[in-house]
Amino acid sequence: MSNPGHDAAADVAAAPSPAADLTRPRRVRVHHLAEAKERGEKLTMLTAYDAVTARIFDAAGLDLLLVGDSIGNTMHGHATTLPVTLDDMIPPARAVARAAEHALVVVDLPFGTYEAGPEQALASAVRVMKETGAAAIKLEGGRRSAAQIRALTDAGIPVVGHLGFTPQSENILGGPRVQGRGDDAAEALCEDALAVQEAGAVAVVLEMVPVEVAARATEILRIPTIGIGAGPRVDGQVLVWTDMAGMTDWSPRFARRFAEVGNLLRQAAQDYAAEVRGGTFPDAAHSFER
Ligand code: KIV
Repeated sequence: MSNPGHDAAADVAAAPSPAADLTRPRRVRVHHLAEAKERGEKLTMLTAYDAVTARIFDAAGLDLLLVGDSIGNTMHGHATTLPVTLDDMIPPARAVARAAEHALVVVDLPFGTYEAGPEQALASAVRVMKETGAAAIKLEGGRRSAAQIRALTDAGIPVVGHLGFTPQSENILGGPRVQGRGDDAAEALCEDALAVQEAGAVAVVLEMVPVEVAARATEILRIPTIGIGAGPRVDGQVLVWTDMAGMTDWSPRFARRFAEVGNLLRQAAQDYAAEVRGGTFPDAAHSFER
């Protein structure tokens, strides 16, 4: 998204760097999302779980940062997102929201914090909004989550939906598998997408969905679709940052490794350890005199 619905000079960064796009809004707001879709501009989203990476991705110009419950797998060493709690989400969400000056920060409601109904969802979302400074909530599910999306929206909390492979339901889905294959499943996915939109969602993530099904959902929705493993015919893309940056040995087939940061970091740590052991670090340049 290069110019999402800018509404005047006040909307533009006060002290842009020489390379900055002067028409770029200082802060991405929910109305910019639909405007970007109308203009055919792709939305860019990455996960972030701390202030260090959030600052980097924000400076890189990402439109949205997602404090995903993928923090369970990527940062906390769990095999799935299921053990993640609301308490786990609050400090990272607060750190990302503090660091982001431009991107719209979205926070996942983790498993067990919204399925019981609109009241539970609202209590969880209000806590996230009050304690973190984030701008939107994401939750999984289509028609089954419509009442929750409606309750949050009515309370003034923007919601991003999440359809297709929904990791919190991985036990019933039989693991990370493509969803929406076959006519009936494709139709059901599109009905879910419409239900999410009608309930008030501002965007919807489509995860592991065939290209044609994602394209169909994108066509019938007014709100933007943000794909992950859903092909190119969607309104935006999201990746888990550790996959995007090549932090681990394995990454999913749909996630291109745009760098091999894990190897770089390992090499830096090895060099550091070798210099400490060899007595060449710290040297005079990194020591204080009396
Ligand atoms: O938690 C997460 O990182 C997500 C993305 C996979 C969209 O929900």
